[in-house]
Amino acid sequence: DTLSDRSIAAVAELIRSGRARRIVVMTGAGISTAAGIPDFRSPKTGLYHNLARLNLPHPEAVFEVDFFRNDPRPFYVLAKELYPGNFHPTISHAFVALLAKRKLLRLLFTQNIDCLERAAGVPPELIVEAHGSFATQRCIDCKTPFPDAEMRQCVESASPPVCALPQEADLVIVIGTSLLVHPFAGLPRLARDSVPRLLFNMERVGDFGTRADDVICLGACDDGIRKLADELGWREELEKLWVG
Ligand code: OAD
Repeated sequence: DTLSDRSIAAVAELIRSGRARRIVVMTGAGISTAAGIPDFRSPKTGLYHNLARLNLPHPEAVFEVDFFRNDPRPFYVLAKELYPGNFHPTISHAFVALLAKRKLLRLLFTQNIDCLERAAGVPPELIVEAHGSFATQRCIDCKTPFPDAEMRQCVESASPPVCALPQEADLVIVIGTSLLVHPFAGLPRLARDSVPRLLFNMERVGDFGTRADDVICLGACDDGIRKLADELGWREELEKLWVG
């Protein structure tokens, strides 16, 4: 399982020819590791292996609301470290922005809360932040939101059709996720059978490989994305967009 140039070329041709124009992208923490934000489950570097200092009953507790009610401090320790502003989007983020710029992005589903999609230039109305994000906050009891116009717009435009939209896709690109957390993990399966699904990840995940048109690019996503951009003839534009 190495990067398959030939298959990437086929996907690039699909896009270049205009046959894929409603591209749905699904991302996880792996798209942001090159930006310096740890993912959750990678051995050694993953967040869940490095939370001992927070004294948690189990690592995932830092994101569990029942635990948070008892003691919100560990979450705030983490939030401070991960807060947007200190990190720059990766070229993979920029690629999603480029898809949007070229009117080829139907929707981006992200599990990430780092807001790097927006920072890269993906329009907020095209982003579904499946696990919330730092862009918005509200009281967990009275639900009173802290005002944030951009956040409201994102929620308003993105939330209602979450589960139906993958069925509209004519190409699905999945970047940097273990696909272990539901319901997000089930999204790639919602793509119609005939729709090609392209995975950029360190490892094979989900049901990738079970469909004839699955394309699996193992390795760092930024490398795979550059490859795809090369095939598309978009490389120069992408690098420019990324650097800003
Ligand atoms: P994980 O840490 O579970 O998975 C990250 C995946 O990205 C792994 O398969 C890595 O091998 C891969 N990866 C890491 N760096 C990469 C790179 N540069 N290029 C390509 N692949 C890379 O993160 P998620 O799948 O996002 O939920 O985790 C899902 C959810 O679990 C998170 O949103 C969070 C967590 O509990 C909540 O907090 C609700």
